[in-house]
Amino acid sequence: MSRPNPGAFERYDTKEIWRKDKNHYIHPWHDFESPEGGCLVIAESDGAYVFDADGKRYLDGIGGMWCVNVGYANEEMVQAIADQARRLAYYSPFVDTTTPPGAELAAKLADLAPGSLNRVFFSTGGSTANDTAVRLIHYYNHRRGKPEKAHIICLDEAYHGSTFLAMSLDGKADDRSAFCYIDDIVHRVSCPNRYRRPEGTTLEEFCDLLIAELEAKILEVGPERVACFFAEPIQGAGGVNVPPPGYHKRAFDVCRKYDVLYVSDEVVTAFGRLGHYFASREVFGITPDVITCAKGLTSGYAPLGATLISEEMYEVVSVPDLASPLSHGFTYSGHPVSCAAALKSIEILGRDGILENVREVGPYFEKKLAGLLELPLVGDVRGSHFMMCVENVADKATKEMLPNEVNVGKRISDACEARGLLVRPIGHLNILSPPLILDRDQIDFCVDVLRESILETADCLVREGFWRG
Ligand SMILES: Cc1ncc(COP(=O)(O)O)c(C=O)c1O
Repeated sequence: MSRPNPGAFERYDTKEIWRKDKNHYIHPWHDFESPEGGCLVIAESDGAYVFDADGKRYLDGIGGMWCVNVGYANEEMVQAIADQARRLAYYSPFVDTTTPPGAELAAKLADLAPGSLNRVFFSTGGSTANDTAVRLIHYYNHRRGKPEKAHIICLDEAYHGSTFLAMSLDGKADDRSAFCYIDDIVHRVSCPNRYRRPEGTTLEEFCDLLIAELEAKILEVGPERVACFFAEPIQGAGGVNVPPPGYHKRAFDVCRKYDVLYVSDEVVTAFGRLGHYFASREVFGITPDVITCAKGLTSGYAPLGATLISEEMYEVVSVPDLASPLSHGFTYSGHPVSCAAALKSIEILGRDGILENVREVGPYFEKKLAGLLELPLVGDVRGSHFMMCVENVADKATKEMLPNEVNVGKRISDACEARGLLVRPIGHLNILSPPLILDRDQIDFCVDVLRESILETADCLVREGFWRG
C-alpha cells in the first residue's frame, strides 16, 4: 500500500484541531499541562505507519495502543466493516436476538481458545471484558450456593482497565489517585517483575516466593471467600513484566487447590502479540477458567471486548432460574460491525502469516533491543516477541531510578517522535508494541532510533545536572 496522497493533508488545519481539542476534549490520562502548541494530531495511516495532520510520517512502535495488530489501512478490513455496516449496522443482542457476525465470532473464538472455553460474552473493550469476568464469576458462585466467595486477588502493577471495578483491580501505585476504589473485596500480591526481584534471589527462588505469597493470601482471606485470581500472562502497562518460568502454571495449581478461578487477562497478549491467537496455553501452558480479550481482537478497527468462560461455569449459570436472571449486558455487546472486523482480522492474522511473522521476527526484535543494554542509562530490556520494554535507570548497579520530575521515558519518546518513531513512555519506561507486520528493517529502524534518542536524552540529563552519566 502506498502512503496517503499529499493532497490528503490539505483537509486538516492543525491549529484549528488544537484549538477544539484544547477547549473541549478530555483525553484518557489527560495531560492538563498541555504541551506548547497542542497534541500530536494523528490523521492518516498506512501499514505500520501513521501520519500527523501536516503529513509527517511515523513508524508506529505503539500499535495504536497495543492493538493495531494487522496494521493500518488494510483494505480488506475496511471492506468487511463497510459491508457489515451496509447490511446491518446494529441490532440489539439482548435476550433472544442475535446477529450473524456475533454468532459466527463467538463460535470462532470458542474454536481458537484452549480447553472448554467455549462460551463468549461480548462487551465493548478490555475494561468491560474484565468487569464482565468478575460479574459472571460472582453470578456463578451465587448460583452454586457460595455467595460469600466473592473476593478477588490481583497483582501489584497489574492493569485491567479504567471502569470503577477494573480500576479497583489495578495494581499500579502511580494510578491510585483522587478517586474512589472498591477495596473491600480486592486483595493484592507481589508483581512477578524479574528485574526488581529481591536482591540475591534466583528466578526459581523468586517464583517460590511469589507462589508462597499467593497461597498465603488465599489462606489469609479464606478459600471459602476467594472467588478468583486475575493475571495478565505478561503484565503490559505495569512494565512488560515477564514472570519467572513456571509462574502461571504454579499459580494455576494453587488456585485449583482452593477452588479459586483463574482469570487470564489477555487483552494485550491475545491475537498475535506473542505469536499465537491466545498465549495462556500456547505460551504459558495453562488453560484458565476465564480469558478476557479486546484490543487486537479487531486490530483496533472497532471497539470490542470478549469474556470467554469454561463449559463448567456455563453449566452452572445456564440453569434457568427466573429469580436470578443474568442481569448483565451492554447495548453494544457483540456489535455486528465490530464482530465483522474481528472475524476479518482473525482471518488475516492466520492467512497472511502474521502469527508466523511474530514468531520469526519477534526473537530478532528481542535480540536487537537487548543491544541497548550497553547504554549507561538502560537498566533492563525485557518482554517477548512484539511486546517489549526498555527500563531507564540512574544507576545500573543499584537499579536506582531517576527522579520522577525528570520524566525520562517522555523525554526519550519525544526524541524518538522527532525522528519519526512513536514509542510509549510510562514513567521511566519506554514500551514498544508495534503492529505485528513489522519486518527486520523496520525493527532495525526502531532500535536505531531508540538508541540515538536515549543517547541524546542522556546527554541532556547530564547537562541539566539530573544524572552523573
Ligand atoms: C491487560 C489490559 N487489560 C485491560 C485493559 C483495558 O482495556 P480497555 O482500555 O479496552 O478498556 C488494558 C488496556 O490497556 C490492558 O492492557
